[in-house]
Amino acid sequence: MCGIIGYTGPKRAARILLEGLKRLEYRGYDSAGIAVNEDLENNDTPFTVYKRTGKIAQLREIVPKELPGICGIGHTRWATHGGVTDTNAHPHCSSDGRIAIVHNGIIENYTTLKEMLSKEGFTFASETDSEVIAHLIAYVYEGDLETAVKTAVSYLKGTYGIACMHKAEPGRIVGARNGSPLVVGVGDGEMFLASDVTAMLAHTRRVVYLNDGEIVSLYPHEFSISDAEDRPIVPKINHIDWEISAIEKEGFSCYMEKEIFEQPDSIARALSGRIDLETGTAKLGGLNLSKKELLGVDAIQIIAAGTSYHAGMTASYLFEQIARIPSQAHLASELRYKNPIVFPGMLYFAVSQSGETADTLYAMREIQRRGGTVLGICNVVGSTIARESDGGVYVHSGPEIAVASTKAFTSQLAAFYLLALNFARLHDMSAHQGQQYCQKLQQIPGLVQETLKLRDTVQRIAKRYCHYKDFLFLGRNLLYPIALEGALKLKEISYIHAEGYAAGEIKHGPIALISPETPSVFLVSNDHLREKTISNMKEIKARGGLIIAIAEAGDEEVSSIADAYIGIPHCDTLFQPFLMVIPLQLFAYFCALELGKDVDQPRNLAKSVTVE
Ligand code: G6P
Repeated sequence: MCGIIGYTGPKRAARILLEGLKRLEYRGYDSAGIAVNEDLENNDTPFTVYKRTGKIAQLREIVPKELPGICGIGHTRWATHGGVTDTNAHPHCSSDGRIAIVHNGIIENYTTLKEMLSKEGFTFASETDSEVIAHLIAYVYEGDLETAVKTAVSYLKGTYGIACMHKAEPGRIVGARNGSPLVVGVGDGEMFLASDVTAMLAHTRRVVYLNDGEIVSLYPHEFSISDAEDRPIVPKINHIDWEISAIEKEGFSCYMEKEIFEQPDSIARALSGRIDLETGTAKLGGLNLSKKELLGVDAIQIIAAGTSYHAGMTASYLFEQIARIPSQAHLASELRYKNPIVFPGMLYFAVSQSGETADTLYAMREIQRRGGTVLGICNVVGSTIARESDGGVYVHSGPEIAVASTKAFTSQLAAFYLLALNFARLHDMSAHQGQQYCQKLQQIPGLVQETLKLRDTVQRIAKRYCHYKDFLFLGRNLLYPIALEGALKLKEISYIHAEGYAAGEIKHGPIALISPETPSVFLVSNDHLREKTISNMKEIKARGGLIIAIAEAGDEEVSSIADAYIGIPHCDTLFQPFLMVIPLQLFAYFCALELGKDVDQPRNLAKSVTVE
């Protein structure tokens, strides 16, 4: 949510900032801006600032190609306080234009601070909470930006990732973090500061993650970090092994399409080196729990938001079915304020692609505060949830850029299927059953590859159905969370209203919605619940509803009832979530494409939501 980039070094800052912002655009994209120190000769002049509403491409139009300046900060915004206007876009400056800041997060006490600063004679140009930070730094500044930032943030209540510059201190960028991620990029004679590593991956792979309460001061050749009490922090330099190609579209029309088609590889990466066929178990090194502690787990709770919640919900079915451990998935935003229960033997998982989602992070902290153990299932290495959790599993799906999550979802499933196997093997599952399970899991990347061949079929169906205004997505058991995910995907990128429901539940209400105007997408499993789902399909048909059915290839009964039929490859019912979600992702993608929507950057959404 909101992207931040800062650069200090020998190169033209504007070019690096614009390129970094383009990489960060997925974090927020309603407006953007940069500030650079153009006039290095004269410290009394204001920073040069360009900002405007719209995408980075629109910002590029107003920034002169050869804009000089070797130090600067940039921002791409997802509006919270104040509408989407040029003035509300970041950077924000002090009244004399000599302090420039960009901010990610929410300053909860900004009205009080605004009143205080207004009384002191400061005038405000925007409606944002962020602008108070610029004036506050000006208010307390006594010749050293780092000291001023330290003082200024002590006034702030809320969350922030801040990058700022003072005209009197050329080549210096100061950053501060509380609740919103900031990463230092260590280059060769140049330094970067960004809200995530993708912004600087083209320049450096050596990064330092800031912790809450830390302040960083960057010059081209050096940087230093200190904590709120002014104690120096010894930085831990991490090496990022993502390839630059991983953040390129590589011939695909958009990131979402690329990421959907990457899934055979990303699932294989999540499983790689973790399946032990001989013992029929999984090798998961980062759990930090002994066998004895794992054996003592008698309840599993999962915390997540959005698509990650659907992965967690699928996992809750899995834990109960194969490991026989009571399990429940919770929406993080709900759990945190629910006075959550923690008792010995209860294990929590926090699931998050970005590892930065505020709802999930705060819920996790609340559980830990109560003495609970929380393991992280994250994609982004070094992210806040990954660092603060008590252990966990990285899903290794590589950078996910499209706002609508696809490959991270199936990689999260893969991680959970491995975890469930280990729990099952501690309880009822025999070595032989474990080996069979491992073999089936190993086949998933290949089966997903097969399923992706349905691309043209799904596109044809999407063309036929994308003009309907309402959809129901229906499934049972493990396919119920997948139905929810299918509905979410359609909503997110095509803006078509869609509801996911447990197929058995439709007769208790949603069936009232059925008409020839509301198609239902049925996910039909190949087990004992197939017949029941087919009965639900017939109930819909009897009421004039249209049906798109996804079932195993060659299921003539299902195809004869459905108006459109998608036949997925055969696999064990337990593993069907991996295959069923593929046509749903493709369906949402092709509907959005057909309707001319911005697939990668849907309106009002952001990839990583770091505010509550
Ligand atoms: C946002 C994104 C969703 C994502 C959710 C959770 O709402 O738009 O695509 O599923 O956050 O994100 P996380 O990074 O925690 O998985």
